Amino acid sequence: MEKSHVVLSLLLVLLFHVGIATAVKTEDGSEAWGYVPVRPKAHMFWWYYRSPNRIHDPKKPWPIILWLQGGPGASGVGLGNFEEFGPLDVFLKPRNSTWLQKADLLFVDYPVGTGYSFVEDVKNTTLFVKSDVEAAKDGTKFLTEFFNRNLTLQKSPLFIVAESYGGKFAVTLALSALKAIEAGKLKLNLGGVALGDSWISPEDFTSSWAPLLKDVSLLDGNGFQISNRVANQIKKQIAAGKFAEATDTWNELEDLITKYSNNVDFYNFLSFAEDDPSSLSAASELKQRIAVKRSSPGGDGDLYSLMNGDIKKKLKIIPPNVTWGGQSNSVFEALKGDFMRPRISEVDELLAKGINVSIYNGQFDLICATKGTNAWVEKLKWHGIKNFLNKDRTPLYCGGDKSIKGFTKSYRNLHFYWILNAGHLVSQQTIVIFLLHLFVSLKLLLLLPT
Ligand SMILES: *[C@@H]1O[C@H](CO)[C@@H](O)[C@H](O)[C@H]1NC(C)=O
Ligand SMILES: *[C@@H]1O[C@H](CO)[C@@H](O)[C@H](O)[C@H]1NC(C)=O
Ligand SMILES: *[C@@H]1O[C@H](CO)[C@@H](O)[C@H](O)[C@H]1NC(C)=O
Ligand SMILES: *[C@@H]1O[C@H](CO)[C@@H](O)[C@H](O)[C@H]1NC(C)=O
Ligand SMILES: *[C@@H]1O[C@H](CO)[C@@H](O)[C@H](O)[C@H]1NC(C)=O
Repeated sequence: MEKSHVVLSLLLVLLFHVGIATAVKTEDGSEAWGYVPVRPKAHMFWWYYRSPNRIHDPKKPWPIILWLQGGPGASGVGLGNFEEFGPLDVFLKPRNSTWLQKADLLFVDYPVGTGYSFVEDVKNTTLFVKSDVEAAKDGTKFLTEFFNRNLTLQKSPLFIVAESYGGKFAVTLALSALKAIEAGKLKLNLGGVALGDSWISPEDFTSSWAPLLKDVSLLDGNGFQISNRVANQIKKQIAAGKFAEATDTWNELEDLITKYSNNVDFYNFLSFAEDDPSSLSAASELKQRIAVKRSSPGGDGDLYSLMNGDIKKKLKIIPPNVTWGGQSNSVFEALKGDFMRPRISEVDELLAKGINVSIYNGQFDLICATKGTNAWVEKLKWHGIKNFLNKDRTPLYCGGDKSIKGFTKSYRNLHFYWILNAGHLVSQQTIVIFLLHLFVSLKLLLLLPT
């Protein structure tokens, strides 16, 4: 697809316009997008891509991936789509490794205030969600609008795939959606949940940082002790339910680690933040506060211009006074009291309900380090957890390539993938371009060699 074709010569068809729910689609139906007013004055933006490979097969219904970015306040429509695995990259060049080959893609700027999603009155902080559970309520409203009116889409299994803070959104949204499905309000077939480098248990991640960094030479005994003391304080605050305080201490701990490690990159502990400009462009993830500190709203400068320039022009329905990323700091602020709250029990609930849960983690991630992920997985109360932990894992290869790309193990509906040579943004790695083998289960498939 040529840029000019994509951006300039789009013929849009009004899909529906009910109240202020607006949706348009391209003439060939390959893309659609719109706003759902999830509450008065609160609008959620979504963008759907139909896979060019979509086939109709009742035995193997074609999957849809709903992508939830982190932050909170980072835009999936921008980051996941253009920087990680959407059909076009930030230069609007086709991306070979797009997940669109394997599934329809549904990007949502979640929660309201993120990306193109917006509230009408930024100063009215009550319009932003204060918890993952409130976000899930809005998300379920969106799913109802999106799926209930299309039979084809209802037959497709929906896989909620998340990165970073998005993992907390994914598990709460999945539970809320299941409830709505059981109540007959939502017509949707939930295929599973995938948690990529997900912030499911903040305490386990913050506690993992100092020991991990000490073991890989990035902290000495002093830096370790000072950092670990602060990590212990976070533990106590979380145990006491003082989540907003814990968010402040988390901030303090990141500053300490940054100082004592001489600026280790939280997205990949093999690099240092200042040497690696790409790590700054990734800054709009869990460490949204980096975006706050290092100015450009929503993260990467280029993406910011693209989303507020060509893409906004293409989409046509973004109100002129809505800036992509313009409200993202308010999203983070409003969730401050929920940011450090764990969602391990929600994972347990999904497992108990028989939902397939896939966890994948990049080897060199620090912010959501594998060490921390292992720790919270061991805390699961699900009846299968002992058997899962006792199982042997198997190596993963990629096409004909003989080098190991990762490891995996599964027990019943819990699946874990250790992804080697990857940092926080696993889904962006060109080294391990893995696609989702979604026909039967959400098994991550190392599809393409490098
Ligand atoms: C993308 O695919 C095309 C055609 O198969 C190939 O020529 C090109 O090198 C690929 N690009 C990347 C970045 O892998
Ligand atoms: C944009 O302008 C309209 C009309 O003046 C106003 O009602 C709305 O609140 C504004 N939205 C934002 C996000 O500022
Ligand atoms: C903020 O928004 C809520 C929900 O729409 C509304 O009830 C309330 O009156 C608003 N507050 C102000 C100060 O505008
Ligand atoms: C429902 O979704 C399918 C798959 O994208 C699409 O082909 C079809 O046009 C949609 N139907 C309506 C009524 O929008
Ligand atoms: C979970 O995945 C397995 C394959 O690994 C599949 O057989 C099963 O149907 C899936 N369960 C659900 C509830 O989707």
